[in-house]
Amino acid sequence: MGEREGSIIARSDAGVQERLSKARVEIRLADLDRDAAKIANLFSQPSIIGHLSGIAPSRFVADKWNRIFEEQNTFIVPATPEGIKDLYESYNNNGLDSKKVLLVAENKEQIVGTVAVVKYTDPGLTYHIISQLDVDQYQRRRGIGRKLLRTADALIFLPRNMGGLGGVGAETGVIGINEGGFVGDMFKHEGYRSIGTQRDFCVSWDRRAREFPFRDSDRFQITRQEFFDSLQEKRVNIADLRKLLPKR
Ligand SMILES: CC(C)(COP(=O)(O)OP(=O)(O)OC[C@H]1O[C@@H](n2cnc3c(N)ncnc32)[C@H](O)[C@@H]1OP(=O)(O)O)[C@@H](O)C(=O)NCCC(=O)NCCS
Repeated sequence: MGEREGSIIARSDAGVQERLSKARVEIRLADLDRDAAKIANLFSQPSIIGHLSGIAPSRFVADKWNRIFEEQNTFIVPATPEGIKDLYESYNNNGLDSKKVLLVAENKEQIVGTVAVVKYTDPGLTYHIISQLDVDQYQRRRGIGRKLLRTADALIFLPRNMGGLGGVGAETGVIGINEGGFVGDMFKHEGYRSIGTQRDFCVSWDRRAREFPFRDSDRFQITRQEFFDSLQEKRVNIADLRKLLPKR
C-alpha cells in the first residue's frame, strides 16, 4: 500500500501530471532480454490476460490451442518469459525506428504497463496501430495508462524533426465491450473516434470458460489533424509531448 498513498492524496484535485510525478513512472523501449520475465508476470494478471489476444495462462493451454488453431494462422504463446520473447520477436530490433515497437512503463524496477505501436509500413495497414495497452492492476488510476497512450500518440504524430514518426493516423481496438466501455471513453478523451465494432477480430483467453473464444473489437481512430486539434482541449502543448518520447 505504501507505494499508492501519494497517488490517492493527489487524485482528489490534481491532473495526470501530478499523479505521475508521484508514481515516478518512466516510459522506455522494452529490452526483452531484461524485461521478458517481468512482462510475463504482468500479462499473467487475470484482468489483463483476457484483453490480450493470443496469450495463454500456461504452456499447456497454449500448446492445446495452437493445435486447434493450426489452420487459422493464429499464434498463441504462454505468459512465460519464452512466450513473451516469441510474441515480440519482431519488435524493437531497431530501437524506436523498428516497424513494431513495444514500450514499457517502469516504476522502481517493476514493469507496470505496456503499449505497442505497429507502424503502417506493415502490409495492409493504412494507420499506425496501438495495441497491448495494459497497466498493472495494483497501479491503476494513477495516470499510467494515459501516459502510455499519450507516449504512443506522441511517437506516432510528432513530426520527424521532433523525434516522431509524422504519421497520418492511428487506430486501436478494445476487445468485446460496447463502445469500449471506460477504455473507449479514455480513447475518446484523447481525441479518438469510435468507428464501430469488428466482429470476431481476435482470440483471447476467457478465464471462466477456460477457452479462447473469438472476440469482437470496438475500433477507434484518430487522424493527424484530429490529434493536433485535440491538444488544446487536453491542455497539452507540443513541447510537453516531445518530453514524453522515449530516448532513441
Ligand atoms: C485500461 C487501462 C490500461 C487504464 O490504465 P490506468 O493506468 O488505470 O489509466 P489512467 O489512470 O491513466 O486513467 C485514465 C482515465 O481512464 C478512465 N478510467 C480508468 N480506469 C477506470 C475505471 N476502472 N473505471 C472508470 N474509468 C476509468 C478515467 O477517466 C481515468 O482518468 P481519471 O483517473 O483522471 O478519472 C487499465 O485499466 C488496464 O490495464 N485494463 C486491463 C486491460 C485493458 O482493458 N486494456 C485496454 C486495451 S484492450
